[in-house]
Amino acid sequence: MQADLNQKIYVAGHRGMVGSAIVRNLQAKGFTNIIFRTHTELDLTNQSAVAEFFETEKPDQVYLAAARVGGIYANNSYPAEFIYENLMVQNNVVHHAFICGVKKLLFLGSSCIYPRLAPQPMGEDALLMGKLEPTNEPYAIAKIAGIKLCESYNRQYGGSHGVDYRSVMPTNLYGPGDNYHPENCHVIPALIKRFHEAKINQAPQVLIWGTGTPRREFLFVDDMAAASVFVMGLDKAIYDTQADPMRSHINVGFGKDVTISELAHLVSKVVGYKGAICFDTSKPDGPPRKYMESTRINTLGWKPIIELEEGLGLAYLDFCKQAI
Ligand SMILES: NC(=O)c1ccc[n+]([C@@H]2O[C@H](COP(=O)([O-])OP(=O)(O)OC[C@H]3O[C@@H](n4cnc5c(N)ncnc54)[C@H](OP(=O)(O)O)[C@@H]3O)[C@@H](O)[C@H]2O)c1
Repeated sequence: MQADLNQKIYVAGHRGMVGSAIVRNLQAKGFTNIIFRTHTELDLTNQSAVAEFFETEKPDQVYLAAARVGGIYANNSYPAEFIYENLMVQNNVVHHAFICGVKKLLFLGSSCIYPRLAPQPMGEDALLMGKLEPTNEPYAIAKIAGIKLCESYNRQYGGSHGVDYRSVMPTNLYGPGDNYHPENCHVIPALIKRFHEAKINQAPQVLIWGTGTPRREFLFVDDMAAASVFVMGLDKAIYDTQADPMRSHINVGFGKDVTISELAHLVSKVVGYKGAICFDTSKPDGPPRKYMESTRINTLGWKPIIELEEGLGLAYLDFCKQAI
């Protein structure tokens, strides 16, 4: 079915890494009526402000890519803020989208919804099958609530109001707009920063925590944006071939994983660092593998296109621009 390029689309979190990539993707496809608000203009934890925004704007579609996001340190230090803000943002956006007649909404979750010891690869059915990783449990609980919120509105209002709210669970993302905060960033931005600084300072070696053997999966953020727009645009009958009323979320992975050692060597190559890479094996490794099962989205017809080395090159270019 041909997309209506004039429909009004609200991208919540449009200045974030994922939200900005979704805006780029929509604009490249020719969508002309994309609306957004900065955090300062509209605090999504403020229910009356969100209600007024939806009442005034009445969008046709919503991409919910606004969230309080952070690494282990931030999640561990501010658990109350992480659960409270994320629950408030998603409750307000989903509920007021519904009140104002929005039929299509896409909720962005995260692979941390799956149990800490989930069988690998982690399929959608692993949800709620075990204990979560304690360091980001409050954040994960909010994300699980977001999925169940969308499902519950579909179940109660799908038939009567045509509500069709979907959820996508990305693996680890990286790319333009990533966060390089020293206490709060993910592994790829941390490695880019470390290797870049080591190159500038001509450091003889870079020391990486752990053995380098854990395997992780990474998806370039523009591929994630493409997956989001793809899932939003799927006919309901087709989406429903891979989703059930009470297991409606769809994983979005890269389909390949690498060891942390392989990743570090790739980042070093992309950055142009010529020194040695060493591993501090006295430091703890995380889980041996975290890999998403992406068969459902692949069956629906979507696959990523940006290989890890190419994506790392683009991420490094963006880092250099941010550093200027
Ligand atoms: N990055 C990843 O590796 C990854 C992996 C899996 C899933 N995801 C999911 O993708 C989504 C987006 O992540 P991201 O990496 O793009 O995060 P991000 O770069 O931190 O962007 C989040 C955006 O949300 C906005 N925001 C946060 N709280 C808000 C509030 N109360 N009111 C209005 N705006 C608010 C932020 O604005 P301010 O910056 O002004 O606060 C920011 O623009 C999240 O749901 C996340 O769980 C990300």
